[in-house]
This record gives sequence, structure tokens and C-alpha cells, in this order.
Amino acid sequence: MQDSVTFDAKTAMEAYRNAFEQGCSEFLKRYPETELYAPVRYLMALGGKRLRPVLVMAACEASGGRPEEALPAALAVELFHNFTLMHDDIMDDAPLRRGMPTVHEKWNDNTAVLSGDALHVMACEALLDAPDKALPDLLRTFHRTALEVCEGQEQDMAFESRRDVTIEEYMEMIRLKTSVLLAAALDMGGKSGGADDQTREALYEFGLHVGLAFQLQDDYLDAFGNPENFGKQVGGDILADKKTFLLIRAMEKAHGADFDGLCRELGQRSEGKVERVLALYRHLGVDAELRDAMAGQVALAEGALARLKSHNPNALKGSDSALALLHGVAAMVTARLS
Ligand code: IPE
Ligand code: IPE
Ligand code: MG
Ligand code: MG
Ligand code: MG
Repeated sequence: MQDSVTFDAKTAMEAYRNAFEQGCSEFLKRYPETELYAPVRYLMALGGKRLRPVLVMAACEASGGRPEEALPAALAVELFHNFTLMHDDIMDDAPLRRGMPTVHEKWNDNTAVLSGDALHVMACEALLDAPDKALPDLLRTFHRTALEVCEGQEQDMAFESRRDVTIEEYMEMIRLKTSVLLAAALDMGGKSGGADDQTREALYEFGLHVGLAFQLQDDYLDAFGNPENFGKQVGGDILADKKTFLLIRAMEKAHGADFDGLCRELGQRSEGKVERVLALYRHLGVDAELRDAMAGQVALAEGALARLKSHNPNALKGSDSALALLHGVAAMVTARLS
């Protein structure tokens, strides 16, 4: 049963992804082949999972709309996501993205700043193609979300030099830097498909929990992922003293020599740091704790959809494949752990 749900969800994901890719290459033709847009084309062509635009389209169809009605919102969300990656990679001093050199490595920081700025504006332009009736609402959600992502990124950076960050602070930081964009993708897709307010609120809540699970998993993979297929530098979070779930819980759980050892690793990047910190994470069992936290978020996500259906049986009566995708997406997000 679980397999067939996952298979349906994967098939649906492929179809949305194809529709998105087509719309995206058409959209990019509007911009000249000049230096400013070369990094934009480079990063967009590297692909990625396209999770956010797929969620926009699925939420639209699940709400009874047609996927093409969701294309402006899907483009806006994915272009915005790529803009955040271009700037995030400068901020995190990251060498690799999607298995290739980051924009600031291939060009330089100034180029990544400016082309990133252009990408953000392109995201706004894409959204302007949404139907007039939906547009003010979509713009409000989109811009509010963009500011929240900036707030989350500010916290992420500020936490690097703090040692007393709590799990509660961490959860709020990842809600802002990551979850709100997945939630907004679902909300904006629902809006594009004509969903009522109650349905949109449930979609948003669902997306928040999927997003929290997603960032927990991203933190896990940054530490324990396979460098062959992760596409990013494994251990980058450890080198930068990022206050991930793993590091915060390790600091809370470690005593004596373990605690001293962990403290010695902070604020320096000596040879073997990543391996020593990973050994401590395993020894302290924080990898297992992260899996439990992620499973908790997946359960909360499923609860949000179930509550919606019990309050409003007519909600989300759109296409079966869209619904299969919504139900399968949390499992897909967490399956990447193994
Ligand atoms: C990376 O997002 C940034 C995070 C919020 C963890 P994705 O893992 O969705 O990146 P792509 O788009 O698939 O490359
Ligand atoms: C990314 O967090 C959040 C945003 C880009 C807004 P990360 O810094 O963990 O993302 P990756 O791991 O570089 O993709
Ligand atoms: Mg970052
Ligand atoms: Mg990063
Ligand atoms: Mg990460």
C-alpha cells in the first residue's frame, strides 16, 4: 500500500516537474543572453528537485484548478528559491551546489550578489502573470514570505557565533528560513486553484510541518550524506559551527570529556574536525533523535490534512494524482535519509 502511494506520488511529481520545466524555459526566453543573466541560467539549468513548484501545482489541482493556472506562482516560488540559494552559498562559503561549482565560485561574489538580485526581481515579474483577481493576495503572501526567509537567514548566521542556542530557537529559525516557503508554495497553489480560506490555511500548516521535516533532513544529510550524490559539500555545517539540530542536541547531551571535546571544535577548522564531530554525534545518539523529530513533523503534517478533511469533506476534491502527491510528499522528503 505504502509503495503504491509513493509510486503514484512519484509519477505525479514527474508530470508536474515536466510541465514546470517547459514553462520555465519559456519564461527565461524573455531575458537577454547577457552576462547578468548567465548565472541565473546556469543555476536554473542545474535543476534540483523542483519540490516547491511541484507543490504549487499539486495544491492548485488538488483544489480543483488546472496546473497551468499555477504556473506564475510556481515560477515565482522556484525562482525565488534559486535566488536564496545564490546568496546563501556566499553567506555559507559553499563551494558546491547541485553537484557543480556555486555561482560565486564559478564567477565571483559580486556577480552572485547582482545576478541573485536580478533573480529575485524575475521571481516577482513571473508572479505578475497570475490572474488579476488572485494577484493582490498572491503578492501579499509572496512578499511576506520573502521577508520571513531573510529573517530566518539572519538568525542562521547570528547563531553561528553563539553556543547557547536552544532547540526552540532552532525550530523557529528553520521555520523562517525554509518552512514558510514550502507553506507559501502550497498556499499560493491553493489560491491559484480557487481554494477557500480554510483549505489554504490547512495547506499552509501542512507545508510548515513538511518544511520543518525537510530542513531537519537537510541538516542530517549535510553531516551524514553521501558525497557522491549529495551535491553539496558534506560537513559544511560542521565546519561553519551551524547550530543545527545535531549540534544543539550534542551540546545539551555531552558531559565531561565529550563536552570539552565538542567545545574545542567550535571556532576553528583544523584537519579532521568534521570526522571528530561526526563521531561525537553518533556516540551521543543525536542522529537517532533527529530522525524521531522528523517523524514527529511528518505526523503533524498528515494531521493537518486529516483535520481539514474531517471539518470540510468537500475540500481537496481535485485530481487524484495531486492528492496522491500531497499525501506522499512527506514520505518522499524523509525517504532521502536512507
Ligand atoms: C535547499 O533546498 C535549501 C534548503 C532549504 C535546505 P533544496 O534541497 O530543495 O534544493 P534543490 O532546489 O533541490 O537543489
Ligand atoms: C538554506 O539553508 C535556507 C535558504 C537558502 C534560505 P541551508 O544553508 O542549510 O541550505 P543548503 O544546505 O545550503 O542548501
Ligand atoms: Mg545557509
Ligand atoms: Mg547553505
Ligand atoms: Mg543545509
